Amino acid sequence: MASLTSISQSQSFLMKPHLINTAITSARPNYFSSNFLPLWSRSFFKLPRMTQKNGVVVVSATTAEKLKKRYPGEAKGFVEEMRFVAMKLHTKEQAREGEKEVKEPEERPVTKWEPTVDGYIRFLVDSKLVYDTLEGIIEKAPFPSYAEFRNTGLERSEKLAKDLEWFKEQGYTIPEPSSPGISYAQYLEELSEKDPQAFICHFYNIYFAHSAGGRMIGKKVAEKILGGKELEFYKWDGELPKLLQNVRDKLNKVAESWTREEKNRCLEETELSFKHSGEILRLILS
Ligand code: HEM
Repeated sequence: MASLTSISQSQSFLMKPHLINTAITSARPNYFSSNFLPLWSRSFFKLPRMTQKNGVVVVSATTAEKLKKRYPGEAKGFVEEMRFVAMKLHTKEQAREGEKEVKEPEERPVTKWEPTVDGYIRFLVDSKLVYDTLEGIIEKAPFPSYAEFRNTGLERSEKLAKDLEWFKEQGYTIPEPSSPGISYAQYLEELSEKDPQAFICHFYNIYFAHSAGGRMIGKKVAEKILGGKELEFYKWDGELPKLLQNVRDKLNKVAESWTREEKNRCLEETELSFKHSGEILRLILS
């Protein structure tokens, strides 16, 4: 028979998503039917059986046990959890698993984009600032765990320098970085020193997004405005699937020592990662 466990209403549901459903019958239901919850956490929690006694939500221990295991992807390792959250934040037009509705121009299908060479150069310049910053942080490693991610083969800074040199040789003017790149770089610097879990979320999303959607974008844009020229940004020394798997293994290893709260802190950061990267992507269309 199931034993009964009581859960204080003052616990942070955001940090403990397996408890989110307790809030639905609690005294403060509005928080949880609104935008209070991040997009990724809304769709996969089902109502458990529960009662409320004297302001305390009571839930059966067997149900609580089951909910604890409900972090999508958890069984495969933490990278799979990050991937699950990231895929939901795509639009259907961007990726099959996407759930977000289209609001910004870069969220429309890439086939319908009307890119410009100058806009694309602006995107490459701001991307380079972000990769310079990321790669500098990993080199400096203000938290020792960052050192695991040195020389993974995914680094993009030098490749982008070559591409910008090529554009210069073609007669284009290379501008200074603009506000989307500058503000993302600044944010990453700050985060890397005070919030390693959130920083790792950005690290994962930036490199893995580029290896997936980023490559597809590079191909389509090159077909439309560069006569099919394949930029260095989209080339890796070594087999990309192996490089990615090596980084996945390291990420899973680093996250093994994190508490559930720290993992959730990392997952929560995904929306901001999409926001910043989306602003930089939008430059292609500017
Ligand atoms: C126009 C914009 C974008 C397009 C078209 C796009 C498209 C895609 C596609 C097709 C995939 C592969 C899905 C699969 O494995 O079946 C993917 C994966 C992914 N995307 Fe995006 N994406 C875009 C923007 C972003 C942004 C802004 C981020 C976050 C900064 C992001 C993060 C990711 C991640 C983390 C993966 C998983 C990669 C992996 O499993 O190795 N994407 N994206």
